[in-house]
Amino acid sequence: MNFFLELIAPLENYDFSNFFHNLVLALPASFLVGVIIFFLLLAFKKLQSREYRLYISIAFILVIAVTSSLYNIGVKTGTLFAVYTEWLHLIVRWTHIIFGVAWIGTSFYFNWLDSRLERDDPDFKHLDGYLWSVHSGGFYRIEKLKGPPEKLPKVLHWFKWEAYATWISGFVLLILVYYFNASSMMLKNDGFTLTPGIAILISISLLIGSWFIYDFICKNIEENKQELLVTIGFILFVFLSYFLTKIYGSRAAYIHVGAIIGTIMAANVFRVIIPAQKNLVSSAENKQKPNLQLSIDAKNRSIHNNYFTLPVLFIMISSHFSFTYGAVNNWLILVVLSLAGILTRHYFNLRNKKQYKVWILPSAALIMFFLMIFSSLSIFDNDKKQISASLELVSFNEVQNIIKYRCGTCHAKNPTFEGIEEAPKGVIYDSANDIIKNLKLIQAQAIDAEIMPPNNLTGITNQEREKLRIWIEQGANINN
Ligand code: HEC
Repeated sequence: MNFFLELIAPLENYDFSNFFHNLVLALPASFLVGVIIFFLLLAFKKLQSREYRLYISIAFILVIAVTSSLYNIGVKTGTLFAVYTEWLHLIVRWTHIIFGVAWIGTSFYFNWLDSRLERDDPDFKHLDGYLWSVHSGGFYRIEKLKGPPEKLPKVLHWFKWEAYATWISGFVLLILVYYFNASSMMLKNDGFTLTPGIAILISISLLIGSWFIYDFICKNIEENKQELLVTIGFILFVFLSYFLTKIYGSRAAYIHVGAIIGTIMAANVFRVIIPAQKNLVSSAENKQKPNLQLSIDAKNRSIHNNYFTLPVLFIMISSHFSFTYGAVNNWLILVVLSLAGILTRHYFNLRNKKQYKVWILPSAALIMFFLMIFSSLSIFDNDKKQISASLELVSFNEVQNIIKYRCGTCHAKNPTFEGIEEAPKGVIYDSANDIIKNLKLIQAQAIDAEIMPPNNLTGITNQEREKLRIWIEQGANINN
């Protein structure tokens, strides 16, 4: 956001006649690049369509022309790059959620469908089941066949790109947010410290290695010993959560647990579920019997994925709840919350099979309740200062926002507070560096004595002062 303001706020400093002048000069050259890209794209099989190539080339032309035209009008390359990165983050995060919703949506839908099929109708014994539904202006009737169809339809939908796209966008996000900022986003502030390179290497090895370990265990545990599989899986999950919180910063640790489970889920689709479906289709084409074992494996992996969903979804939103990842025993909170999620999923899966185990949902609720009490226990025990220092990690982002809105209106290079022309006493809080430089003054003026903001003109709350104090106490780390 800061970057954006920096770009937009001092508009009058920019020489726009220069911009249009540059644009006129830059367009022909960018256009040439666009034409070259248009033909180069032919090399990709998926991009043979003229329409796609046209869109991509136009996008390139615009980005190149506008970017090069901005240069001489006073926009710094640094800020421009930062703006692009911010937008890239936004776009990738957005698409990741959209693909994820599509994937989990279809997965939930098919699970539900299988459980609700009408299977006992004597008039439709030739079907495995059918289902009527009404949705958005129409009636739908879905039939599940007992075997393959006589003749395969021309168009058969697979539902696999949702999974792959979710994983790919997730991995790009991991690179953008964590690998590119490894020293501030991945490393621990205290205790065990890795170098950024090693942290990334461990991350990649864990993503790949976990899949092989999981796959190996699944393949080597007999069909009728699923309890053993679940027990081993859970122990590994506990170990992983513990290990990651010990080597990575807390948010990175949580996200990595999620990324590892997400990778296993996508690999289940890629390596087991889709191959089984391909086998089904090709045997239908060749009028052969499908490989039954493949289908059984695929069903099992699909059930695993189903149980993984709720923990992964929690992890994806966990960064909004610092009392989870920021707690002392954050790994335990993750494990117990996941357990509650898995139990909830289990209840609904059983219910779909018409087995009603009423104790499961209340147990999950009780677990959540005890977790809540447990996580607040230290608040009752310790005095105020101690908890704040240990329990909740105040992020620099929060601190920066407080300072921006409560102090920055006056203490900025270009103050926006009415009547303030220049930063009072030359105290400026525009950048992280400014904040660190003036730390002692902030402490003296806004925390120890509540002098600033004058007459509390910007309405700083006690909670916000407390946050600033805790952050300073926790070492005033701008990488939190
Ligand atoms: C409404 C405008 C305004 C806001 C908001 C504001 N200040 Fe100030 N600040 C001033 C003025 C005016 C002075 C000069 C006071 C003086 O002359 O004694 C000042 C002075 C200071 C000084 C220098 C004190 C000294 O005499 O050395 C510090 C440090 C400071 N402010 C910190 C903060 C912090 C931290 C915040 C946010 C929590 C904040 N200010 C919010 C207007 C503001």
